[in-house]
Amino acid sequence: MSRILLGVSGGIAAYKALELVRLATGAGHSVRVVQTPASRRFVGEASFAALSGAPVLVSEFERDPARGAFPDQEPPTHEPLSHLELVANADVFLIAPASANTIAKLAAGLADNLLTSCALAASCPLVIAPAMNNRMYEHPATAANLRTLAGRGVQIVEPGVGRLASKGEQGVGRLAEPERLLEACVEAITAGGRLPAPAAAQSLEGVRVLVTAGGTREAIDSVRYIGNSSSGRMGFALAEVAHERGAQVTLVAANVALATPAGVERRDVTSAAELERACEEAFADCDVLLMAAAVADFTPAQVENGKIKKEQRERLEIVLEPTADVLRGLSAHRHAGQTLVGFAAEHGADAVQGASGKLLAKDLDALVVNDISREDIGFDSDANEVTILSAPGDRSQIERHHVPRASKAEVAAAILDTVEGLRGSG
Ligand code: CTP
Repeated sequence: MSRILLGVSGGIAAYKALELVRLATGAGHSVRVVQTPASRRFVGEASFAALSGAPVLVSEFERDPARGAFPDQEPPTHEPLSHLELVANADVFLIAPASANTIAKLAAGLADNLLTSCALAASCPLVIAPAMNNRMYEHPATAANLRTLAGRGVQIVEPGVGRLASKGEQGVGRLAEPERLLEACVEAITAGGRLPAPAAAQSLEGVRVLVTAGGTREAIDSVRYIGNSSSGRMGFALAEVAHERGAQVTLVAANVALATPAGVERRDVTSAAELERACEEAFADCDVLLMAAAVADFTPAQVENGKIKKEQRERLEIVLEPTADVLRGLSAHRHAGQTLVGFAAEHGADAVQGASGKLLAKDLDALVVNDISREDIGFDSDANEVTILSAPGDRSQIERHHVPRASKAEVAAAILDTVEGLRGSG
């Protein structure tokens, strides 16, 4: 049982925060809620108070009838300052939904309301779940603010893709589902040392693992790019689990707004060419390569200096030329003792069939196949369902191992089990 402080900022997704409170209290957690003034336009204090069984605060100057205590605690005899006492008692502070405005304030360190004051005073893990219109989410200012926060160790629960609040709009920006928010709280508490983490077997002790994660971006002009919707979660889960098993992990991250897993060395890259350079530098010294990044297959042949203007153009044609296949290039220089794992995003019924050819063509030991025709798993989801193809020994036979729908951490564990099996059989 943990104490979750929930900060609700302004947005239509505030209604999902109610469901989170219901889930969390149902699972035995103790919850207190603080709201921004704007969030009350979407869901009022009475609803959160009823579900959490505790008073809800909005202003830092408001008297807290519970004097900063959580429902499982006895209130102190004195009247403490709400923002200090609430975060001192909390095991985790989750801000969901986190609006673009609140994210910007957090990145700048502003403390202009109770929620932002709590965030600044918090020594417990801070988890934020952005929710907003896709154009606001994709705005470089929001992206930079999220990177700043991730760099400070804040855990970001990525928004999903789908229908948005404004009529007819689709895109990235939907608040993550309440189950995922609760899972992220528990993960953050565990990682923050407030719950004992189960000891992992050090089965990869001394093994050097190179992981790529995220999706590359190919510049069209100085502000626009061609990208993809890989969040980097699968690669980050692999890096984290490999480190827990004792590996020395280098993580090449392409445009990922997630906190770096503890103990992992991270190198940030943007384009396919930069990712290629970073991998080439680290490859010779690695024992295991886990190539989870979604690398662009094509890049604009020319990058326009400055910003392309729309005036006097009826249409704009962008000529693309192929990028290097990074994985194929690395495997051409592989040395004995290295284990190479590729990832393939395939579509539909022939997903596994098509991937077997890729495994042999790219000279890999294993290939993790995702069926991207499924909406409930893969790129932007917290869960994944994969088939791991592996070719042990002389590669005369390809073995298939289906991993049913599971969290990305569990899928990462299954992939690393396969890697360990291959290394043992090699
Ligand atoms: N990959 C790479 N460099 C590229 C493209 C892909 O290193 N330019 C790697 C990916 O990181 C992944 C694997 O190759 O591990 C398979 O990627 P995928 O895009 O499925 O395969 P492709 O060979 O690019 O084939 P497709 O035409 O199906 O996209």
